[in-house]
Amino acid sequence: MSLLKVENLCSGYGKVDVLFGISFSLSEGKSLGIVGPNGVGKSTLLKTIAGEIVPKSGVVSLLGEDITGKKPEDIVRLGLSLVPEGRQIFSGLSVTENLLLGLTGRKDKSSSKIALEQVKALFPVLNTHAKHQAGMLSGGQQQQLAISRALLSAPRVLLLDEPSLGLAPNVILDVFEKLKEIIANKTAVVIVEQRAHLVASFADQTIVIRDGQIQATLSSADAKNQELLRGAYFGPGS
Ligand SMILES: Nc1ncnc2c1ncn2[C@@H]1O[C@H](COP(=O)(O)OP(=O)(O)O)[C@@H](O)[C@H]1O
Ligand SMILES: [Mg+2]
Repeated sequence: MSLLKVENLCSGYGKVDVLFGISFSLSEGKSLGIVGPNGVGKSTLLKTIAGEIVPKSGVVSLLGEDITGKKPEDIVRLGLSLVPEGRQIFSGLSVTENLLLGLTGRKDKSSSKIALEQVKALFPVLNTHAKHQAGMLSGGQQQQLAISRALLSAPRVLLLDEPSLGLAPNVILDVFEKLKEIIANKTAVVIVEQRAHLVASFADQTIVIRDGQIQATLSSADAKNQELLRGAYFGPGS
């Protein structure tokens, strides 16, 4: 069964339409990349799935349940969590306080302590800096904190909006290694990325969005084909 299914999703802002009929599905232990030029609606797509924007039409299902139009906090409790663009951690709060906020989205509170231990085992740096203000962490550490906070709600589906933004190349690779562990732990992952080659080679499948629609679906093998990648990204004749 697909954990996440998006059918014919149309979304936008007021009278402005941004996405026209996006469809895909994602199973347990799988990853999906989403790439496309700036401003095509990648963040809009993630926000619509996560309930921050109500779609104009189409259906989003999580574990077989229709979640279209539900509130973001209800969608988190049902098992879908978004790591937003720019991370949006609370910089004035400590690392631990930020993590505790992640627990509020958890349905099963009895396992909170174990879950905290698990994310600290996955990202040991958060233990080292537990009492420090989150704003004092490096960009890579803040991204690890943002991912951990999202994991604490026990998502079956994790959406990440440009996790590599502002990170040094070696730190980006570290973050993607951790994502592999998260996927191996049966969480399905959707990654929006500017770095098309990076995500296309990482994810099981990568969709290319242009003009509000899916223009191509690439396998990880396609990532080696620079020409195919460029053509899918910028359009024919690029
Ligand atoms: N809050 C908003 N209100 C109105 N238009 C918006 C808003 N957020 C984004 N947009 C517009 O929607 C389009 C898609 O934006 P976005 O989803 O952020 O693109 P991407 O993440 O692919 O760069 C852009 O044209 C952008 O200007
Ligand atoms: Mg964006």
